[in-house]
Amino acid sequence: MDCQRHLFDMPMDVAYLDCAFMSPLMGQVLAAGRSGLARKAQPWKLGPDDFFADAALLRALMARLMHARAEDFALIPSVSYGLAVAAQNLPVPQGKHILVLAQQFPSNVYIWRDKARRCHGAVKTVSRRPGQSWSEAIVPAIGPQTAIVAVPQVHWIDGGLVDLAAVGAAARRHGAALVLDLTQSLGALPFDAAAVDADFTVAACYKWLLGPYSTGFLHVAERHHQGQPLEQCWHNREAAKDFAALTEYRDALAPGAARYDAGESSNFALLPAVKAALAQILDWGVEAISATCAEHTAHLAAAARACGLEAEGERLRAPHYLSLTLPESAPDDMLQRLRARNVFVSRRGNRLRVTPHVWVNDADIERFGAALKSVIAA
Ligand SMILES: Cc1ncc(COP(=O)(O)O)c(C=O)c1O
Repeated sequence: MDCQRHLFDMPMDVAYLDCAFMSPLMGQVLAAGRSGLARKAQPWKLGPDDFFADAALLRALMARLMHARAEDFALIPSVSYGLAVAAQNLPVPQGKHILVLAQQFPSNVYIWRDKARRCHGAVKTVSRRPGQSWSEAIVPAIGPQTAIVAVPQVHWIDGGLVDLAAVGAAARRHGAALVLDLTQSLGALPFDAAAVDADFTVAACYKWLLGPYSTGFLHVAERHHQGQPLEQCWHNREAAKDFAALTEYRDALAPGAARYDAGESSNFALLPAVKAALAQILDWGVEAISATCAEHTAHLAAAARACGLEAEGERLRAPHYLSLTLPESAPDDMLQRLRARNVFVSRRGNRLRVTPHVWVNDADIERFGAALKSVIAA
């Protein structure tokens, strides 16, 4: 893909390499969000349909992105919300375990610690050896004692890739449920919901889906469409569009995964922005985004290598994600020093996380290399 910086409000002297932290909003996404927010300035123009129309369009866009069906999606505000729905609807028999990865993102750990406590089960944490892929570590750890496998597609700190088809097959072999957090991959890495066949899949929109904060999706396999939502909302009931009849109190929930929609998920300000972001991602194509990010991370890895910092081999890491191991001598204020040179990356433990996207250009990569050299050599 050609560089898409013109779509972003990003000065040419800023090297923003931190999509894994938070993506910037494109101009058209910001405009859609602004006009979405403006709808609330004139509420007399809003009608019952406005509570449902954008939500329906979003489910359809997500279906295209994940090779799924629109009716399999719920709208949620956060990953922790979606995982709470998953935990509520999956059994953990006494003594069985929930499998997570070492240093997995906290929203995908605390919920399972809580679930294990309540069910007298346990959380089992899988680590991997140097040179080993995450899938090579996870698959043998799944066994008859596994109730749930709760993993990402890409590890948020080390950028390691998880082969979800292999993990899904192992989970199914042992009768374990599969719960996925795609926040660090969806939009930048192809994902096929039908092929992986997870039970519950969540993603926040504010990173690789290029959307606003406090928006996300939950994909629910059809076998869980009769489960219990976290909340008792008015809008995910049958006939909810009939505002005059809302106090007829219908206990029957909406068909499909919409029963799991969070309260006030018909967000007039945010949903139009999410829609604009997803439309642009689908227009580019996830394969093209992934290939573009892969080129950037290859160049960034070369620049880091010139400074003595190694990234994981390409077989083990996600193409859009670079995680550099820092030497013990790396200065504590490394990030601030890079920021002073207009280079923006994240540090998590002894890892420098460098995550470009389609706005990155050659000058950004040069700026990164020069800044890293001055900071590491200092
Ligand atoms: C892998 C992963 N999952 C989830 C989140 C966000 O979780 P939540 O929406 O619960 O704040 C992040 C944020 O960094 C993340 O990296």
